Amino acid sequence: MSERRFTPRKADFPVVRSSVGRSMLAIDSLLKTYPGRGGRAATKALDGVSFTVKEGDFFTLLGPSGCGKTTTLQCIAGLEAPDDGTIRMGSEVVFGSRGGAFVPANRRGLGMVFQSYAIWPHMSVFDNVAFPLVFGGVRMAAASVKAEVMRALEMVQLGHLADRPAPMLSGGQQQRVALARALVRRPRILLLDEPLSNLDAKLRDTMRAEIRALVKSVGITTIFVTHDQTEAIGMSDQIVLMRAGRIVQQGGPRDIYLRPNSVFTADFMGRSNLIAGKAVVEPGAPLRIDTKLGVLVAETDTEFAPGASVVAVVRPQAVRIMPKASGSNSINSFAAWIVSLNFLGDLVEAEVEAGGVRMVLMLNPYDTYEEGSEITLHIPPENCVAVPADDREAAS
Ligand SMILES: Nc1ncnc2c1ncn2[C@@H]1O[C@H](COP(=O)(O)OP(=O)(O)OP(=O)(O)O)[C@@H](O)[C@H]1O
Ligand SMILES: [Mg+2]
Repeated sequence: MSERRFTPRKADFPVVRSSVGRSMLAIDSLLKTYPGRGGRAATKALDGVSFTVKEGDFFTLLGPSGCGKTTTLQCIAGLEAPDDGTIRMGSEVVFGSRGGAFVPANRRGLGMVFQSYAIWPHMSVFDNVAFPLVFGGVRMAAASVKAEVMRALEMVQLGHLADRPAPMLSGGQQQRVALARALVRRPRILLLDEPLSNLDAKLRDTMRAEIRALVKSVGITTIFVTHDQTEAIGMSDQIVLMRAGRIVQQGGPRDIYLRPNSVFTADFMGRSNLIAGKAVVEPGAPLRIDTKLGVLVAETDTEFAPGASVVAVVRPQAVRIMPKASGSNSINSFAAWIVSLNFLGDLVEAEVEAGGVRMVLMLNPYDTYEEGSEITLHIPPENCVAVPADDREAAS
């Protein structure tokens, strides 16, 4: 059966008020340590996590396995209690270690999709979605339950499968049941913990677009958890990148990808060339980095002391290739040669060498190059970002 394209409107979701831009969720200095058991050491899962989410934002917690994403989400949901810190939703403190506030999970007004969908196999699609209304502590007439469940199922295009037993669904449909169940109580915030991880690659792509379209069309504030940087870049308004219980960087997808503040961010968000060197600092002048390649002019958000160890982050798409004849005398232009070329269809991956430094570049497949040829490389200073060298080894 072909599935209808769903087109929910804001009016279907009256919980959202017209105050986009206001802080919907504010997390301040969360600490959480899980005690060790059976002789094992305790785990510091959250080590001072703070961020603010604007109403209506699609906000993503990104980071490698074990960095504390689920723990953060569960603290927001009220399923875990932090050891210290504050969680505010709008003007309400739902957790405050100092004042002792703890609003229980079922009174926080949240919808959650868990890392495993937690769909109940012995129930129909309808009963799965009705569960939070029937057992969630709200008294509701059967007719209202039916109307709310069907509204949530229509939002995820599953109205026509309401009576089907849950096991008789595809992976994508089960994922939508979990979404409908999270939305049925008209939550003020939607929490999604890796909701796409059980789907195959093609379905993931489709569901990415659908989830973003769904939450944007109803305007619901959404906290999304993933370890997949492509997913984060393609779906988010804001990304928080976490590592070992701390936030490494926060920003929009462009900032995080193009303007990393650390080797860890650069490495986690995609491929990059990391060129080591020493900072040459002169008041009023842009930062220069003395590298094996030559002197690189770079942009940075970090203050470096003269002589500090610096890494220049250069994305493979950031470099221009010119004929050798164009010369290497201008800023950030270097004599180089093409070591190898790999035609991949949508791009050509090239390995080039300049001053003993090997770099990987992504070139336009319509341009022709030859292996072994001599060229001039140009790295526009705005495409060259200097970050501290100190976390380099830990990034691998
Ligand atoms: N109930 C628990 N008891 C003890 N340690 C825990 C518990 N839950 C999580 N941890 C530990 O806390 C740290 C953070 O875990 P968390 O589940 O928040 O990571 P995550 O970023 O969601 O990882 P993943 O991407 O693998 O889901 C990890 O080191 C984990 O082993
Ligand atoms: Mg997790």
